Amino acid sequence: MKICVIGSGYVGLVSGACFAELGNNVTCVDNKLNKINNLKNGVIPIYEPGLDELIIRNFEQKRLQFTTNISKSIKKADLIFICVGTPTKTKSNEADLKYVFQVVKIIKKNLNKYKIIITKSTVPVTTGDKIQRLLTTKTNKKLFEVVSNPEFLREGEAIRDFMFPDRVVVGTNSKKANNILKNLYSPIIKKKGIYFNTSRRAAEVIKYAANAFLATKITFINEISNLCEKLKVDVTDVSIGIGADERIGSRFLRAGPGYGGSCFPKDTRALVSTSKKFKTNLSIVNSTIHSNDNRYKYLLTRIKQILNNKLKSKKITFLGVTFKAGTDDMRDSASLKLIPYLVKKGSKVSYYEPTGIKNEFDKKKVFYFNNIKDACKNSDLLIIHTEWNEFKQLNFNWLNNKKKLKIYDLRNLYSPAKMKNKNIEYFSIGR
Ligand code: UGA
Repeated sequence: MKICVIGSGYVGLVSGACFAELGNNVTCVDNKLNKINNLKNGVIPIYEPGLDELIIRNFEQKRLQFTTNISKSIKKADLIFICVGTPTKTKSNEADLKYVFQVVKIIKKNLNKYKIIITKSTVPVTTGDKIQRLLTTKTNKKLFEVVSNPEFLREGEAIRDFMFPDRVVVGTNSKKANNILKNLYSPIIKKKGIYFNTSRRAAEVIKYAANAFLATKITFINEISNLCEKLKVDVTDVSIGIGADERIGSRFLRAGPGYGGSCFPKDTRALVSTSKKFKTNLSIVNSTIHSNDNRYKYLLTRIKQILNNKLKSKKITFLGVTFKAGTDDMRDSASLKLIPYLVKKGSKVSYYEPTGIKNEFDKKKVFYFNNIKDACKNSDLLIIHTEWNEFKQLNFNWLNNKKKLKIYDLRNLYSPAKMKNKNIEYFSIGR
């Protein structure tokens, strides 16, 4: 299949590289010349384990091309995947679709033969209908189909999620388009996933409902963890105890600092915004957003308690600052709320981050170290903020010379009992 992927960001690059790996001829398009030139030279703009190898191999095998020439790429393609960003609008919680519609206008001018136009970017329900209306002229109705095929890729696990999906959702009422897409996905469907054909609007809703449900599940266990702390019950036991019920499921029940990243915060807000348009009250999703937005306040209260209400001049070290492990993404990371507050209160904050220094923090006030030991030296409190593997078996007494070291583990990586034996004052989430 000749595929054109428009937008060489996270979704576009992962999808493009994986489609190429499956034997298709893929052109990834972007309007940033610098990015395209870098990609041609094997310089990958995002951190995603395994992606660089996949891109370089498929580029060398000439199954994967990079270009800024959008018109030419559209003309030669059978399938066009729209993978541009849909950020939250600055003045409302709606998804901003300006990039999607800019692309649609260019597609319209280049409809030289039958093409399937597929939205992979997360777009609110009825966007497919709007794209169809925008593209349609009196003469071109049979020349295209607009399909919704949302992605369910987790950052840090994106290639595995693409190649071994739980499901592939394809929203279209067209038999022809469905057959073509079923054929495209057949190599990975054979491996594990379910191929699910539904209406275009249903596919669009599925994407938002999935993210909102997962965000709600995390928020639910975070609130239960607050109760567990009061009751001296271990929340990880509760997660195991409820997760074993197949109706509930064990995944996404890890209590932590609150969900972040480029998807859950944005998509929950956009879903609520859509529900308002259609005069429906999504009160559960609303509560989830509210609860997650306020989670950092709870964590700050705990930090104050741990440091006996003295934040001034205390040295606090963060291990990891991204929104989760396996990514360099800082978007909506809990650290963005915690660190500036602590700095404002006079704490001396330093951090070690496996993906390097972050521009989000004021370099004169928040100190980056490129190794764990230097970052932890003389700290009054270590905060384990992300669950990178390299944080899972640390020798804290070697890292820090304090007589009574304090650790606040926001990811429950360690056993409280073992920490007690090591003379470490260990605090975690919901335990
Ligand atoms: C999420 C979804 O998991 C993907 O299926 C979806 O395709 C993607 O959004 C998207 O819409 O593009 P991602 O944001 O990469 O993927 O990250 P997740 O692994 O889902 O984690 C999101 C947040 O929830 C992180 O802050 C993570 O630390 C937190 N989390 C996750 C928990 O606090 N507890 C858990 O048990 C799981």
